[in-house]
Parts: sequence; structure tokens; C-alpha cells
Amino acid sequence: MRIESDYLIVGSGAAGLYFAILAAQRDASVTVVTKSGAGESNTRYAQGGIAAALGSDDSVAVHIQDTLDAGDGLCDAGAVQVAIEDGPRVVADLLRLGTQFSRTAAGELSLGREGGHSRHRVAHADDWTGREISRALVAAAKSQEGIRLVADTTVVDLAIDGKGRCRGAWALEGSGGEPLALQARATLLATGGAGQMYASTTNPGIATGDGLAMAYRAGATLANMEFVQFHPTALAHEQGNTFLITEALRGHGAILVNDEGEAFVEKQLEGGSLATRDRVARAIVAELKRSGRRHVYLDVTAQNAEQTRRRFPNIDRTCREYGIDMTRDPIPVAPAAHYLCGGVHTNLHGRTDVPGLYAAGEVAHTGFHGANRLASNSLLEALVFARRAADVVIEESADDQAHWPSPPEKHEGGEGEDCRRWRAEMGATMLEWVGIERDDGGLQKACNRLAELAEEIDARRTHDQASLEVWNLVTAAQLVANTARMRKESRGVHYNTDHPRRDDENWQHESLVQLAR
Ligand code: FAD
Ligand code: SIN
Repeated sequence: MRIESDYLIVGSGAAGLYFAILAAQRDASVTVVTKSGAGESNTRYAQGGIAAALGSDDSVAVHIQDTLDAGDGLCDAGAVQVAIEDGPRVVADLLRLGTQFSRTAAGELSLGREGGHSRHRVAHADDWTGREISRALVAAAKSQEGIRLVADTTVVDLAIDGKGRCRGAWALEGSGGEPLALQARATLLATGGAGQMYASTTNPGIATGDGLAMAYRAGATLANMEFVQFHPTALAHEQGNTFLITEALRGHGAILVNDEGEAFVEKQLEGGSLATRDRVARAIVAELKRSGRRHVYLDVTAQNAEQTRRRFPNIDRTCREYGIDMTRDPIPVAPAAHYLCGGVHTNLHGRTDVPGLYAAGEVAHTGFHGANRLASNSLLEALVFARRAADVVIEESADDQAHWPSPPEKHEGGEGEDCRRWRAEMGATMLEWVGIERDDGGLQKACNRLAELAEEIDARRTHDQASLEVWNLVTAAQLVANTARMRKESRGVHYNTDHPRRDDENWQHESLVQLAR
């Protein structure tokens, strides 16, 4: 089967849906393909909110400075400028599209504060912000003429013609039938991140790095893959650290304490529990090494119980499911892999270096986040650069003379039941050697182990979604480990104990990688 449209969008998170709505409003025909339900994405799980200079005590200049400080010398100044200038506009657009943000008694947007922000500037919907944004965007996309939403369909590979131009993509229908050809003048990758390459992550199951791996196979340049951000506070329980405890809880007055009830982060870091994520996560790692325990605590018990429950209903409910009343008991927390600062390299309009291929959102690298993303700047980036891509994509025209490429080769006869083992080994390898603290020896071990795993997976993978995802994950994991091994300094979220200082003379540049042909 074949679907033809002006634009193909892979992914139905904030970036994909916003692009689709804006492009269709300009009379384009748009196909959005997504591998799970339309509302399933990292976007859906966002808690804290979206950062924008909206408060009366705030300004674009101050938000820019906070972003540059967090980015630790590696932000692209142009990307930071356009994203932050556009912040108030995309928040207004979300409101226009039906998002219900929390408001003060006076009817103003209620603004939260998170780590690294010097002002209250995070628009939110209690602590269900992602669910609300996703709801509004899915509803707007469904009611917008010109958008065809194809759910439960996994894109396998980009369709690159003989001239190196992206003509669309190939997808698996259901769990592995005949390939579905998705033909378009331009394709937007909006596939999100790859948190699933780590054994412990806040990301849902869809975050398997598919867009990163597909773009890499298609010859696109990827940048800054070594910068994987760990969120300091995921709920620590016996099933692993997966549920996020939003940084906004620290903005509400919660502090990090150890077993003895000592506020160790307040003592060690300027900014205390609201210092940037990289520093708070490292302070927790040091405390865990000292105590030999598996978690520290986030203590919000000093705040008004009723107000805390009302502001954080999602966390309240989930903690209760684990037998924790956060208004009385400190919450056990530990860091977990959360966000990929690098990705498919784009210009400030989402263009990659493969003609006809665009990328926006977490899969993309615009240079906005540098070496460490500032909290709640991700939804902002996803929306701003999706809009900027939609502004220019109209100029794309495909060469109709070029022939439609043949479908990707099928991997049949393998032993797909190994997927679970492959993922467990990869997750453990990444967590042990490519985590918050790295060193040269561990990174080399990780690269070696991942290379062996990749070889085994390639030889034995089958033509189904589970197999494809593990293949994409191991590709992304190799790119992370290899670039981390190369960078002989510490900066932002990349901390190498053998090279503990930032080295601007040799390393103040992006790490670029491209498949050798
Ligand atoms: P996603 O929202 O991840 O969407 C990706 C889409 O691509 C999904 O629909 C997926 O199914 C689809 N897809 C993937 N591969 C394929 C394929 N092969 N074929 C078809 N479809 C595919 N950021 C903030 O700014 N503020 C926050 O408060 C915040 N909180 C967060 C809380 C959590 C728990 C998590 C995990 C992240 C949080 N982030 C937050 C980060 C932010 O949510 C994400 O970076 C952002 O939502 C990414 O949006 P996206 O559109 O790029 O991708
Ligand atoms: C959070 O709510 O702490 C997550 C915010 C983010 O990842 O930007």
C-alpha cells in the first residue's frame, strides 16, 4: 500500500503535531504516522511545563542568560535567541489551540520555577502539563482538515532516492506485514528521544531512538550525542526509577536530604536543590557513594499539605500507590536517564543535511541546549523549531523524475525472542559505563560491548517492531558511547572523572558524526 501527501511527519508528540497543524492550516496535505496511539509520546509525560519569559519580573535577556549558563559554553547563540524570543508566542498558540494551563486567582498564567531558572517562568497544567498539551494538540490535529493520522504504524526507514534525497519513508503495518510506502515532498522526523537505551529512565517505551538511527543510516549528520541528561529525582522503588518527581516540587520548596535528614545539596551547591540538573545529579551520586544506599529523599513535608496536594495531583496519586504520603514522608528518589541534548543536526529551520529531510523536537540538535538542557526548555524547543520548519517547508519540491527507492531489506529467520536479553545487556552497559560519571576505561569497555551486541543483533534481528527498536537503540547507544569516549573533558552533563575540567581551548565545539560510506 502507498500513501502520498505533501508532508510526512513521523511522530505525534509536541513537535510532530504542531508542525502538522501549522502545515495543514496552509492547505498542505499531511500524513502523521505514529507507532503507538496518537497521544503516546514523551510529551504526554511532561510534568513541570514549558519555559517562557512571561512574568512581569522576567525578560528574554534573563531567560537567554539562564539557558546559556546551563548549556556550559556549548549553546548556539542564534538558536537560543530565536527560541527564547518565540517562547511567549508558542505559549499563546497552545492556548489558542485549546490548552488549559493553570492560572492564579487573578486569572494570570501560574508560573512555576525549576532548577537553573532565576525567575518563575514555567507555564504548566498542575503537574499533568504534557497530558494536557498532548490532549489539546491531538484534538486540534483531528479536527484540522488535511491531516491524516495513522496510528499503530512503525516507520522502519527513510526512503532515500538515487540522488540522496528523502522521498518519504517505509513503515510496518501492524506487527510486520507488507511494507507501507509513505511518499512525500518533505519528511519531518519528530520521533523524540532514546531514554530506553538505559536500564533506568523516565522515558516511556516509545523512546527507542528510531529517528536518530534512521537519520544516521540515511547519511545525516548527528551532533553532541554524548550529552545525555539524567533527571535527579525519579521515584526510587523496587521496579526501578521510572516515575518522574518534577523539579517544580523543588520550586515549591522541597529539598533533597540524605538518610540522616541532612540537606546535603543545600550545603554543597550554590542554588541548593534548585541548582542545574547536572550538578544536582552529581551531588546525589556522591551522596549515594558515601552512604552506600540506592536513593536519597526529596522532602516537601515542611510545605502546606493541602497546597502541595492541589498543585501536584499526579505525584500525590502515584506516591500513594507506592504507600507514600508526600505531605508526611520524604519521597525516595534517585537519578534516571531523561533527555538527549544532542541529535540530528539541523539549521534554525529544522533542515538536516539530507535534502527533503527535516527534524524537530528531542530527535533534533539545534544547538539550543548546548551541553546541558535547562528544565522545561524542551517543549519550548520542540514547538519553536517545528513552527520554524513549517514556515519554510513550503519551498520544498521533489524531483518527479527520480525513481521511488526500493523497500528496505527484510530480516527474516532470526530469533527475535532475544530482544529482551539484548535490551537488558545494553541498558546495564549504558548505566554502568555511560552514566552520570564516566571514565576512559569504562567508556572503552562500553564501546567494545556495544559493538559486540550490535553485531549479534544485526545478524539475528527479525522484521518486527521489537527487533527494529532494539536495533535502533543499540545504534543510538553506540553513537552516545563513542562520542563520549572521544570528548576528553567534562562539560554540562558529560562528566569524565579522568578529565574533570572543562577545556575550552580544545573542546568548545560540537561532536559531529556521520555514517562512513
Ligand atoms: P515525543 O513527544 O517523544 O514524540 C515522539 C513520537 O514519535 C511519539 O508519538 C512516538 O510514538 C513516535 N515515534 C517514535 N518512533 C517512531 C517510529 N519509528 N515510527 C512511528 N512513530 C514513531 N520537557 C519540558 O520542556 N518540560 C517538562 O516538564 C518535561 N517533563 C518531562 C517529563 C518526563 C517524564 C519526560 C520523559 C520528559 C519530559 N520533558 C519535559 C521532555 C519533553 O517531554 C520531551 O523532550 C518532548 O516532549 C519531546 O517531544 P517530541 O515531539 O520531540 O517527541
Ligand atoms: C520536570 O518536570 O522536572 C521535568 C522538566 C523537564 O524535563 O524539562
